[in-house]
Amino acid sequence: MNVSVFGTGYVGLVQAAVLAEAGHKVFCIDIDEAKIEALKQGQVPIYEPGLEPLVERNLATENLQFTTDAKTGVEHGEIIFIAVGTPPDEDGSADLRHVLTVARTIAEHMSEPKIVINKSTVPVGTADKVQETIRGELDKRGASDLTFNVVSNPEFLKEGSAVADCMRPDRIIVGTDSKEAEEALRLLYAPFNRNHEKIMAMDVRSAELAKYAANCMLATKISFMNEMAEIADLVGADIEQVRQGIGSDPRIGYQFIYAGIGYGGSCFPKDVKALITTAGKLGIAPGILTSVEERNQRQKHYLVDKITARFGEDLSGKTFALWGLAFKPNTDDMREAPSRVLMEQLWARGAKVQAFDPQAMEECQRIYGVRDDLQLCGTKESALAGAEALIIATEWQQFKAIDIKAVTGGLKAPVIFDGRNLYEPKQLARAGIDYYCVGRPH
Ligand code: UGA
Repeated sequence: MNVSVFGTGYVGLVQAAVLAEAGHKVFCIDIDEAKIEALKQGQVPIYEPGLEPLVERNLATENLQFTTDAKTGVEHGEIIFIAVGTPPDEDGSADLRHVLTVARTIAEHMSEPKIVINKSTVPVGTADKVQETIRGELDKRGASDLTFNVVSNPEFLKEGSAVADCMRPDRIIVGTDSKEAEEALRLLYAPFNRNHEKIMAMDVRSAELAKYAANCMLATKISFMNEMAEIADLVGADIEQVRQGIGSDPRIGYQFIYAGIGYGGSCFPKDVKALITTAGKLGIAPGILTSVEERNQRQKHYLVDKITARFGEDLSGKTFALWGLAFKPNTDDMREAPSRVLMEQLWARGAKVQAFDPQAMEECQRIYGVRDDLQLCGTKESALAGAEALIIATEWQQFKAIDIKAVTGGLKAPVIFDGRNLYEPKQLARAGIDYYCVGRPH
C-alpha cells in the first residue's frame, strides 16, 4: 500500500521503517530540513537498536523515502499517519498544534479519498477535532465532496525496543466507526498480524483512552512499588523479596514492579499529567493519578535524601560519580530522567559530578553544556576517580556485574547509592561497601 507518515520522531520513523520493511511504499514527511537530509543519507538521528540498518535497507529499495514536501506526501499516501509531537502545554494537557497543522496540510493537498491515522498520543476527542479540521478546510477550498476517515491507532512501542515492538506488536488497536477504514488497516497490518489475531477494532474514543489507560496503569504499578519500597525501608523488609512474592501471582505479574528512583521518558510523565488535566476539566478529581505523579516526583529525590543524610546538606568540595544518565537503558533519551534531578540537586548543594553513560553523554552535553561541576568521563571506571561515592541512576547491562576492586579502588571511600537495586546488599556488605539501595535493608 502507499503510506505517508508525517513526523519523523521515534514513533513516526520506527513505524515508517517497519511498514517499508514489510513491503509497503512509505514516504516520511518532516518540516526539519536538516533531519530529512540526514535521513536521506541513511543517518538516523536517534539511538534505537536495529533502526539504522532498517532505514538503510529500505532506502536502497526505495520502499522508504523522505521529503519535506507536504504535497508529495499527501498525494502519495492512501493511508496517512499523523505522528508528530504533542508536547505538554502550560496546564499539562497535550498541545495539539502540530497535529492540527498536519490535518490542515492534508486537507489542503488531498484530491482523492484518504484514511488519516492518529498515531501520536492525543487526548480523547482529538480524532473528532482532526475530522472537523479537515472537513472545515475542504469546505473552504470548495472540495466538500472529498471523503476521508480519521482512525485512532495508538502505538505501544517502548524506546530501546521500538523496532522489535513494532514488528511484533502484542495488540493493534484500530479505533474507527468505518468498516472500510477498518478493512484498510487490516490490510496495512496484515504482515504483523500473523500467528494470532492482534487487531482490536473499537470505537474511536475507546481507542484514544486505551492508550492513556495503558501508560497510566504501568506508571501506577511503578509508583505503587516505589511506595512499597519506602514502607519496606521503614519496616526492615526487602522490596526485592516482596516483588518476587507478589509477581508470582499471575493477576499481578512480574513486569513493571521494579522499585527505583522514578519513571522518566517522554511518555509516562506527560501522559499521566495529561490525563489528570483531562479528568480535572471533566470535573472529577483523579486521586489515583495525582498520587502516582506525586510519588514519582518524590521518588526522584529518594537518593538525594540518602546522600544528604550521610554527607550533610552542604556538599561543596565533594565530587560524586554518576553511572547512568539516560532515563532507562538502551536509549540516549534524557527527557524527565531521574539522573537530571539527581545532578541538579547535587549541583545546587555545591557538589561536582563525574558522569558516565554508554549512550547519553552527547545528549547530556547538549542539555547542560560545558560546566565546571560536570565532567563527562570516557569509561565507567574513570568516573569513579577520587569521588566520595558512586551513584547509579540507570540499570544499563554493563553496570550489573560489579568489579568490587575497581570500584573500591577508584572511590575515595567505598560508598554506593544504587537507585536501581543492581547488587546483592549482603555481598557488598561483606566487601566492606556501604551500600544504599531502594527498599532493601543495608
Ligand atoms: C512507555 C510504554 O512502556 C510503552 O508501551 C508506550 O508505547 C510508550 O511509553 C509511549 O507512550 O510511547 P517508554 O517511555 O519507552 O515506553 O519506557 P518504559 O520502558 O515503559 O519505561 C518507563 C520508565 O519506567 C523508565 O524510566 C523505567 O526506568 C521505569 N520503570 C519501568 C521502573 O521504574 N520500574 C519498572 O518496573 C519498569
